[in-house]
Amino acid sequence: MAEVIFNKLEKVYSNGFKAVHGIDLKIAEGEFMVIVGPSGCAKSTTLRMLAGLETISGGEVRIGEKVVNNLAPKERGIAMVFQNYALYPHMTVRENLAFGLKLSKMPKDQIDRQVDEAAKILELDELLDRLPRQLSGGQAQRVAVGRAIVKKPDVFLFDEPLSNLDAKLRASMRIRISDLHKQLKKSGKPATTVYVTHDQTEAMTMGDRICVMKLGHIMQVDTPDNLYHKPKNMFVAGFIGAPEMNIRASKLVEKEGHLYLTIGDEFLPLSNVLEQKLAGHKNEDVFYGIRPEFVSVSDEPFTDGGCTGEMVRVENMGHEFFVYLKVANYELTARIPSDEAKPMIDKGLNRKVYFKFDMNKCHIFDAKTEQNLSL
Ligand SMILES: Nc1ncnc2c1ncn2[C@@H]1O[C@H](COP(=O)(O)OP(=O)(O)O)[C@@H](O)[C@H]1O
Ligand SMILES: [Mg+2]
Repeated sequence: MAEVIFNKLEKVYSNGFKAVHGIDLKIAEGEFMVIVGPSGCAKSTTLRMLAGLETISGGEVRIGEKVVNNLAPKERGIAMVFQNYALYPHMTVRENLAFGLKLSKMPKDQIDRQVDEAAKILELDELLDRLPRQLSGGQAQRVAVGRAIVKKPDVFLFDEPLSNLDAKLRASMRIRISDLHKQLKKSGKPATTVYVTHDQTEAMTMGDRICVMKLGHIMQVDTPDNLYHKPKNMFVAGFIGAPEMNIRASKLVEKEGHLYLTIGDEFLPLSNVLEQKLAGHKNEDVFYGIRPEFVSVSDEPFTDGGCTGEMVRVENMGHEFFVYLKVANYELTARIPSDEAKPMIDKGLNRKVYFKFDMNKCHIFDAKTEQNLSL
């Protein structure tokens, strides 16, 4: 059991490239922290510095009370599962699970106990005598997780462990790893977990909190709910959510004492709340951000204000449609429940429709700093 702390953590590779720019992060004991971000944002570099597989160029890593910068991986109380987990092909599942413990010279009866316990948690009991080539991809991945569990680490590290699995298996392993975490917590042996992924679905469904990274910087650390509804900046707003939030250039203009967003050459009135928050930003260039589920589309004008666009494309998702509107020089995506969308779509594409935003769900970003001004 241990908390994990990064203090101004930095990584400069030997070629001079600065991959991690002095990040601060505090992961509570027993917390499931997901580090998410696009490829190349330094998720693996950060995790590998925590694991002791990569040297630390600046700042410190603490696990529990200890600064571990200069400790070898095996002295850090961690266990790691990688994307490319390699099981030993000539060893059975039981031998694969026991291997690390044998190396640590643990007595045989204790090894057996810990292996059996891990096998039970991961439902590997039936597979213990098989060789890796006799396992499916999902089973092999479970053994890889099992190899980490048997060590009873204080901290679990995962680096994109599900990337090699197909979508269905990924979904079920996701649940399994989350359940495992809860189970350990319930049994009074919570394991602090740091889980790296580029997949926002994994991040949103697994994390107690999520740390969003971009190019070696932390953009926001927050609960899944807050990342979705209260993104601190444009990067987080655009990264979390599928289909993506509509984020488009606009301007805040004042007309007759009220603030409006420009949409092409039309105007949308701000909500009272937004108007108050943005009173100091009159006539500034901004970006607005609205998630597709908060865009309404209609054949008829809205009585309480709205704009016009051309319905250019639709995608049928079954229970809902994604409706694409050409507005000014860009496109907007709307997500509309099927019953509501069907009559409108049946009338054909490439025609004028009306749309409006739920302005209580609209974000306004500073055009220069890209910070969310509407929080
Ligand atoms: N050994 C290395 N030498 C120099 N640059 C590296 C090295 N390893 C990774 N990088 C660079 O550091 C950045 C972060 O890489 P990485 O941590 O693997 O990102 P992620 O895991 O988020 O995809 C990338 O720009 C990558 O090219
Ligand atoms: Mg990586």
